[in-house]
Amino acid sequence: MKMHIVAGARPNLLKVAPLLRAAREKYFGEIDCLFIHTGQHYDDSLSKVFIEDLEIPQPDVNFGVGSLPQAHQVGVIMEKYERLCAATMPDVLVVVGDTNSSLGCALAAAKLPCKIAHVEAGLRRHDMTIPEEVNRVLIDKVSDYHFPPHERAATNLHSDGYIYNSIHRVGDVMIDTLIYALRKLKQGGGSITSNAVRPYVLCTLHRPVNVDNKENLQQILEALDIINQSHAAVVLPLHPRTHKRMLEFDLDHYMETLRPIGPVGYLDFVALMKSASLIITDSGGIQPEAVFLGVPCVTLLDATVHPFSEACGINQTVPCDTDSIYKEAVHALRGDRAIRPYNDEWWDGRAAERILHILVRDHAGTHNSTTHG
Ligand code: UD1
Ligand code: UDP
Repeated sequence: MKMHIVAGARPNLLKVAPLLRAAREKYFGEIDCLFIHTGQHYDDSLSKVFIEDLEIPQPDVNFGVGSLPQAHQVGVIMEKYERLCAATMPDVLVVVGDTNSSLGCALAAAKLPCKIAHVEAGLRRHDMTIPEEVNRVLIDKVSDYHFPPHERAATNLHSDGYIYNSIHRVGDVMIDTLIYALRKLKQGGGSITSNAVRPYVLCTLHRPVNVDNKENLQQILEALDIINQSHAAVVLPLHPRTHKRMLEFDLDHYMETLRPIGPVGYLDFVALMKSASLIITDSGGIQPEAVFLGVPCVTLLDATVHPFSEACGINQTVPCDTDSIYKEAVHALRGDRAIRPYNDEWWDGRAAERILHILVRDHAGTHNSTTHG
């Protein structure tokens, strides 16, 4: 089976890692895999470090698309992917998550004679003003296989009318990667030592709704500043998008008080999450990770695409104002939340293997039925 796997941004690399590993280790000789990096993220701290930390093979192709406005970026990726397919047509294209890289390749492949598999399908905020929501809905629409990471995502796909046998709930590849990283840390991986300062609050910020608007960004930074001064040190690995906005909006005085660090590699980030008293984030991927690790999380969004994270009490979404963020952070830091253990039967580190098993099985079935009649 000829398979293309696409990554472009930080979270994509984390999601393709277990698929690439399973293809190499479990399906060697059965899957001929081409790994494509679109170049949407190009800084070492958002790309190379993940390839190294997760021992991902170097990409076979890099489109080098770089940072561009939304439609332009998707358009360039579509054009480059269509050209690549003209030279080497896959049987199946695997895209992960909801980035422009995944959308561009999926849209180009939609008019080609190959199957499309969407890993992390079915996430919904029901708000088409969010760029990732547009991407998710469109990728699901053109996909032949939908791999939802949790039950609600599967339900969303059923509600949207996707046929039953296109939906395969076999686990979450992000959790595969988290389990892999925890094992590596136990073996001495990463560069952060366990005697890091405690207690601390770990924070990430990069959503356009929070950081591209001066008022919202200021409200968040002010809350972090108060928490940092009064309750617990804030560790802030800064996304370049947020760094640029802080400079542009004259909010750089928070650089002196909060002393952000650059984005960190995955092993170090998992080490930081594991020992944090609280995580404050607007990341999609960090919320299930917080549940797996049992670390309380405050999510700076008006709704979550992972409702189980709130249902078990680990996660709480809050509006983007200083007072709400501060109050919920203090509530969580005091241990006042009612937290129930959450366990997902599919969180065993083998979701990627099951995904590839389904793709290989179906490909063999189609191939046999074609050749035999
Ligand atoms: C993208 C994804 C988002 C994902 C996030 C993960 C889309 C629409 N958005 O958002 O879903 O959560 O990645 O981090 O696909 N930049 C650099 N160096 C880089 C890459 C970007 O400095 O290597 C800066 C550029 O100024 C760029 C800005 O960051 O304009 C935003 O990058 P972009 O890839 O457009 O979006 P993200 O906010 O990273
Ligand atoms: N992450 C990381 N280093 C950082 C910040 C985040 O390794 O400095 C990891 C984090 O554990 C999560 C993933 O990056 O698994 C999420 O990426 P991001 O928040 O950029 O994207 P999203 O999940 O919101 O699409």
